[in-house]
Amino acid sequence: MFTFIAYGIPYFAKLPGGLTGPLVSARMPRLAADHSRLVLEEAVVGPTDVSPQNPGITKRRFNVPVQVEQNDVLITIRGDDSSYVADVVRWFGGSNSLAGRAVASPVPRLLTFTSSRAMFQQMGLPRYVADRNQLPFAKFIHPHSPMWMGFGDQQVQGSGPAEITTCAGNSSARLTTAVAGDYFDSASVQHLSHLILDMEQFFDFDAAGNPGPDGVFTERVQYMFRSTPPPSLGNPDQYTDGGGPSFLETTFAGTGDAENSAKGIGTPENQHRIGHLSGLQRSSRAADGTPIHIRMDGPGFDNLDVPDGSIQPKLQFTVFVPSADFFATMRRNQASLDLAAANAVPEQDNGLERFITATRRQNFLAPPRRHRAFPLLELT
Ligand code: HEM
Repeated sequence: MFTFIAYGIPYFAKLPGGLTGPLVSARMPRLAADHSRLVLEEAVVGPTDVSPQNPGITKRRFNVPVQVEQNDVLITIRGDDSSYVADVVRWFGGSNSLAGRAVASPVPRLLTFTSSRAMFQQMGLPRYVADRNQLPFAKFIHPHSPMWMGFGDQQVQGSGPAEITTCAGNSSARLTTAVAGDYFDSASVQHLSHLILDMEQFFDFDAAGNPGPDGVFTERVQYMFRSTPPPSLGNPDQYTDGGGPSFLETTFAGTGDAENSAKGIGTPENQHRIGHLSGLQRSSRAADGTPIHIRMDGPGFDNLDVPDGSIQPKLQFTVFVPSADFFATMRRNQASLDLAAANAVPEQDNGLERFITATRRQNFLAPPRRHRAFPLLELT
């Protein structure tokens, strides 16, 4: 088992003086570019989230407003046997039993659990789940894909070394005031969000359940990666088993790739487009090209926050970054509504935004290992 623990703003607010009191504010790192801001700030509503803040945004099927959660603690548990993971989750929840033996659950009655989210990550698992549940788009998912949308993500080239995601950073990027030896030197900000995926829209289903022209592989690969040029044109049959390869190299095409693409420079037929990857790369990398993030997300399949209570494909998204501000900027660039507006990029040619509905967000601080249990409490 791999366990992670991270603390939200409500935790730090409960300490003497709260977030702005001397205990927390003297030790919490600040943004190198703005010393008035702490690395841990609350998650912001994303530019394409359904929210009163974004009156122009509606999603076709899952029009659920985003909620910024107020949890004290985030516990992430990972393992290679789902029954062991479930056993440990139940133990945290108060089962007083581990592997069939009586073992007292930790800190009884201290925590109230607000949600438990299951994520699974294995090559071919989304297709297997889709087949078993007879989902209407099952045969269009690549049989080897680890993700619902058919492309392998979290590639080695697309994640940073661990140090760069911490507050102290590394030689490629230092974005905060933290230095080695500080209380929160190797802390990292963990963003957790919960997204419902509209797979039928992704394949451009018509009313009869047939995939349409915007759902061909050559379109999907551009929404996912980039158009300058598309990294693959796929198979003659553009739909069956994904219609093309699942694993494509993540190349860094520079911070200007999204703008060129939005202007139609180097794209097929000079169309104005923005890919998910090219939008993110406006700010996701250090000057030397190193990614400043490690994602730890994966598919889910449940009914949390689904308006009609049906079980739907999910993205259980989480990522480690050096500051909340860094994530907010990267998420804004993922949507790139500025480039889309300035260059007349149609909504149906802009990344993944229209297919995904974030229903929950929150930022947490994962402390260095030596302070992982209730950080700062020992100083009160
Ligand atoms: C269902 C929705 C999503 C899918 C299928 C998806 C898929 C992918 C794929 C295939 C890549 C390129 C391969 C790689 O580098 O790992 C990628 C890159 C990335 N995605 Fe997503 N993604 C989704 C949502 C998100 C969300 C909500 C975020 C939040 C910010 C995000 C952040 C990133 C980042 C940071 C990168 C790497 C950028 C870089 O190259 O530096 N993705 N994604």
